[in-house]
This record gives sequence, structure tokens and C-alpha cells, in this order.
Amino acid sequence: MPLTVLGIESSCDDSAAAVVRGDRTVLASVVEGQTGLHAAFGGVVPEIAARAHAERLDHCVEAALATADTHLRDLDAIAVTAGPGLIGGVLSGVMLARGLAAATGLPLIGINHLAGHALTPRLTDGVPFPYLMLLVSGGHCQFLAVEGPDGFRRLGGTIDDAPGEAFDKVAKLLGLAQPGGPTVEAEALRGDPRRFALPRPLLDRPGCEMSFSGLKTAVLRLRDDLVGAKGGLTPQDRADICAGFQAAVVEVLAAKTARALALSPAPTFAVAGGVAANGAIRAALQQVAQAAGATFVAPPLQLCTDNAAMIAWAGIEQLSAGMPPEPIIARPRWPLDSNAAPMLGS
Ligand code: KG4
Ligand code: ZN
Repeated sequence: MPLTVLGIESSCDDSAAAVVRGDRTVLASVVEGQTGLHAAFGGVVPEIAARAHAERLDHCVEAALATADTHLRDLDAIAVTAGPGLIGGVLSGVMLARGLAAATGLPLIGINHLAGHALTPRLTDGVPFPYLMLLVSGGHCQFLAVEGPDGFRRLGGTIDDAPGEAFDKVAKLLGLAQPGGPTVEAEALRGDPRRFALPRPLLDRPGCEMSFSGLKTAVLRLRDDLVGAKGGLTPQDRADICAGFQAAVVEVLAAKTARALALSPAPTFAVAGGVAANGAIRAALQQVAQAAGATFVAPPLQLCTDNAAMIAWAGIEQLSAGMPPEPIIARPRWPLDSNAAPMLGS
């Protein structure tokens, strides 16, 4: 019988629970977002997020078990995100998982949220080790060589903002709705990417490090210059700024992906994270991967963004590999690559 594991995720602003089987079947994946709770503050407020997780996680677990038609006693283990993330939210999940494990006697496995994202291509597409992946979301941006359930090598990543964060900030600067990724992408579709010259930070620097904060500042200056000169922005100005900004992000991600594949060739290149929803980014990365002879894998969006199925799956990978569960320590920072120092955006 394949293993069946309950996963719990609460490291940012999504409360999630899922039941996943070792034969790669997602029996249930419940995600309750919190965008509405944080909308008025222009970003995720840690205290509000932690309270919302504490209120909602019970319900997420009940809903996941009901959808999967599974009882706690039928499970083989409980896997919970133990970091990195907002510590109040992580603790909400860890405390719930500890309580469930104590009540049932089930083994409890603490999962690194980034390992969850990084192992997702194996859940969705059965990708064999090794593979290369780009994790690109509102909180993360890094290239990882994935060599085993616990074998992650970080090739480089952002030295400041993550691209999703830059999309969100650009949307805010232009008065567009949050989350900024989808709204900026929609504006960009009717904009001219060549009208405004925006920087491609670190494009010429060797290696896979990236930077997106200067690009965001360049958009701020451009907006202020246009507002100063004309008294406001027209809808076409907004669309052209979005198109120029998105083109810069696409070019940086594509160039660094080509470099990562040259430094660490792999048969498969996968993306995960909310920014992978962007059509222009996806298309560019697919082209780069194929040019390097790698198969391109992009998991379905609901498993690319934060979810608990990836946490349950990472638990299954650990159990299947015979890795002993370590004592759970909730950690706000937890670099995946154990040789790496904690880094911004990791
Ligand atoms: O993976 P995710 O749901 O959460 C974490 O950040 O961990 O990613 C959310 C991020 C947000 O910053 C959002 O603006 C961005 O992904 N995003 C996009 C698109 N859809 C979501 N960015 C660019 N284009 C999109 N279509
Ligand atoms: Zn994430």
C-alpha cells in the first residue's frame, strides 16, 4: 500500500491542508487565502496572518480529510511546514500538527517549505533526480539543482527582492489591484515594451545572482517623471510601463536560466512559484530550456503556488528515503542548501 500523508502549510498568507498518497495521487488539497485580510495594508501583516492561520487551519484539515474520504487513523504520517516563513504562521501549523500527532501517535515530519516547492515536479510529473529548478514567487527566487529528497544545491538567486514582490510593488505604484502579478501581466498585454527603457540589473554579471529592487525603483522614478511632466498617467502610460517592466524581468530570468543550465546541465528544467503563472515568463523559460536540450516542466498553477500537497509529498519523499524525522524546530530562516549561509530571498 502506498503511504498516505496529511500535509499542513501556513508559512505565509495561505492556510492549507492536503492528503497525498505515495503513488502521486493528490486526494485533497485545500487552500484558504488571506488576500482580502491584508489588502488595506499593502502587504502581508504577520500578526493578522498568524491569527487567521490559527482560526482556519482546523477547518482546512477537516475539509481535506473529508474530501479525501480519509480518517486520521488511516494516515501514515503528518508533515508540516517548519520554516522558512513568518514565524507566527509557522508556529500555528506546527502546534496543530503536534497536537494531532500526540492524539494519534502518528509520526510527525517537519518540512522546509522550499523543499516542498522544489520536489513538486516529482509529484506532478514524476521527474527523476537530478533536475534543475527555478523557484520564483513573491517570497523566493533561486535556482536549485535537485539531486535527491534532501540534496539541494543553490546555484544563485535574488540578492534583494523576489520578482513577485517587484510585480506587486509596481502594481501598487501604478494604482493597480493586488496581487500585482496578474494585473501587471494583463496591462502589459496591451502595452509597448520598447517605449520606456528600464534596467536589466546584474544581467552582465557572471553567475546566477539576480536583483529586482533597482528595477522597481526605476519604475518609481519613471512614474514620478511622467506625473511631474504631465500631471498624471494615461491608461496607455500604465500599460507601457507594465510591458517595459515585464520585458525586463523576462530578459533577466531567461538569461540567468540559460546560465544556470550551462553551469549545471540537467535533463529537466522545472519552474515553481506564483510568478510561473506569467505567460511571457513561462514561454521564455520554455524556449531557453529547450534550446539547452532540457525538458521543460511547469506544474499546474494550484501546485506551483503555496499549497499543502507539496508539503505532504515532501514528507512522503522523506519517509520513502528512510530519512529519520528530525525534531521539529520552527524557523523563520532556513536555507535549503545546508552549505549556504542564510540569504535574502531564500
Ligand atoms: O507562490 P506564491 O503564491 O506565494 C509566495 O510568494 O510564496 O506567489 C505569489 C506571487 C505574488 O507576488 C504574485 O504577484 C505573483 O506570485 N504572481 C505573478 C503572476 N501571478 C502571481 N507574477 C507575475 N505574473 C503573474 N501572472
Ligand atoms: Zn512558497
